[in-house]
Amino acid sequence: MKKLLYITANPKGLEKSKGLQIGEAFLEVYQQQRPDVEIKRMDLFSLDFAQMDADLVFARGKLAGYGYTLDQLSEVEREKILKMHALADEFISYDYYVFVSPMWNLNSPAVVKAFLDNLFIAGKTFAHTANGPKGLLTDKKAIHIQTRGGQYTGTPLQGMESGDRYLRIALNFLGINVMDTVIAEGFDLYPQRVPEILAKAKENAKLAAIEFSLEPVPSQN
Ligand SMILES: Cc1cc2nc3c(=O)[nH]c(=O)nc-3n(C[C@H](O)[C@H](O)[C@H](O)COP(=O)(O)O)c2cc1C
Repeated sequence: MKKLLYITANPKGLEKSKGLQIGEAFLEVYQQQRPDVEIKRMDLFSLDFAQMDADLVFARGKLAGYGYTLDQLSEVEREKILKMHALADEFISYDYYVFVSPMWNLNSPAVVKAFLDNLFIAGKTFAHTANGPKGLLTDKKAIHIQTRGGQYTGTPLQGMESGDRYLRIALNFLGINVMDTVIAEGFDLYPQRVPEILAKAKENAKLAAIEFSLEPVPSQN
């Protein structure tokens, strides 16, 4: 059975978050189209995952750079690196990913970066080769749903957007094919237009769900 991981990064909850509502519109259509795909939800604001603190940085360096074995790490280093690897293994067990996040200070909420930091593991999600780093998750597909208060598309601010841009770069680095981004923008710039922007974004999300539901992963070919 194919599996989809629905990853959300918004502490406001469904009632208040327009992005989470757009995400639900996506999921509903996706599930209708692909009842065969198992969906799991992952809320990054309530997920307990390893942070890139001194223990994890040293553990990572010792294992990757100095040939240490797990036994040679301190207990706390081992515990944290195993937690990181367990999260990466869980992530790898999925075929499709949906990320839902708002734009915060030109980027995504910090939990998105902290989560992605757990996935960059040489030998597991990417490999160092003679030609440089190579992503190993090449049989997986992703989509991003992003809400923005301002208007970036087609304005001088466009180049400042770094949340969708970084997410795409990071996932591409790991070999994951990012198929689309559903952008819903201008919510705070045009408060009187919120219902219209939201309705249009939900329609776009439903269309994106149909497209995404048609995406095979290579193992299905
Ligand atoms: C901490 C914070 C920072 C924000 N920074 C930006 C920003 O840099 N650019 C922008 O367009 N909107 C910014 N916003 C506005 C949100 O992106 C906007 O309100 C969006 O509609 C939120 O979607 P949601 O309803 O799903 O939370 C910020 C909001 C917060 C809470």
